[in-house]
Amino acid sequence: MKKFFVIGNPIEHSLSPKLHNYWIKSNNLKAVYDKKKLDVSELDNLIKEVREKKIDGINVTVPFKNSVIPFLDKLSNEAQKTQSVNTIYLRDGMVIGHNTDIEGFELAIKNTNYDIVGKNILILGAGGVSPSIIVALKNMSAKKIFISNRTQSKAENLKKTFNEIEIIRWGTIPNFDMIINATSLGLKHDENIILDYSKINPEKFFYDVIYNPPETNFLKYAKKNGNKVENGKKMFIFQAQASFKIWNKLEPKVDDKVMELLN
Ligand code: ATR
Repeated sequence: MKKFFVIGNPIEHSLSPKLHNYWIKSNNLKAVYDKKKLDVSELDNLIKEVREKKIDGINVTVPFKNSVIPFLDKLSNEAQKTQSVNTIYLRDGMVIGHNTDIEGFELAIKNTNYDIVGKNILILGAGGVSPSIIVALKNMSAKKIFISNRTQSKAENLKKTFNEIEIIRWGTIPNFDMIINATSLGLKHDENIILDYSKINPEKFFYDVIYNPPETNFLKYAKKNGNKVENGKKMFIFQAQASFKIWNKLEPKVDDKVMELLN
């Protein structure tokens, strides 16, 4: 019986077990995927269990995507570039840290048929998920990437890695084609991002990494003003699919049933 975990803190609300166990069952695999709430001091021992083949794979979520790195033997290029690990596996006796959030975001955008080539993109937030989104946007040939974060020093830190991004003061809006909410604002129903929607021409693309609630106020107002909107559900599903593929060497289906499962 193979054993997989998603680790984080908090972890109660993670939908990863539901999704992975659905794919495990539909592919008749002998495996189980569970969630584990951890303290940072427990990371070392958990990674040892991967090295000893007691655990077959781990997904990592907030707040450990970066802090798990010192315990790993090797990083993939994607994890190296973003300093963010969401998928762990054993290869040739080494515990590898990989990042499938990049692939998840790319596949989600392709799935919406939006063409990033030559677009100006504004990312709100310079937290854990932003480096993955920047790498994905670069892979898809975005023209210009702006970053705006309440705490400007965090945006400046990102610029040390991604020199081509332009920092925009929090609260000001450059001319953009697509805007991405990569902050945690909107997780709570009453939270708003202060944007003057009337000053933004319609027919822009508003993307929210948040998928629960499915329609944040950010997306609600954008839709009302005639913009294209998309939440983070497909990104979540495609990052999970990429992890599953690495661990189980087969590609699980992303179909309507999977989309409904997470409603
Ligand atoms: P971390 O900052 O620890 O990496 P995260 O969940 O990955 O955590 O990122 C949270 C993001 O949401 C950050 O960009 C954060 O902005 P700050 O860097 O200024 O904290 C942003 N965020 C959270 N609450 C916010 C608020 N009330 N207003 C504006 N931005 C907020």
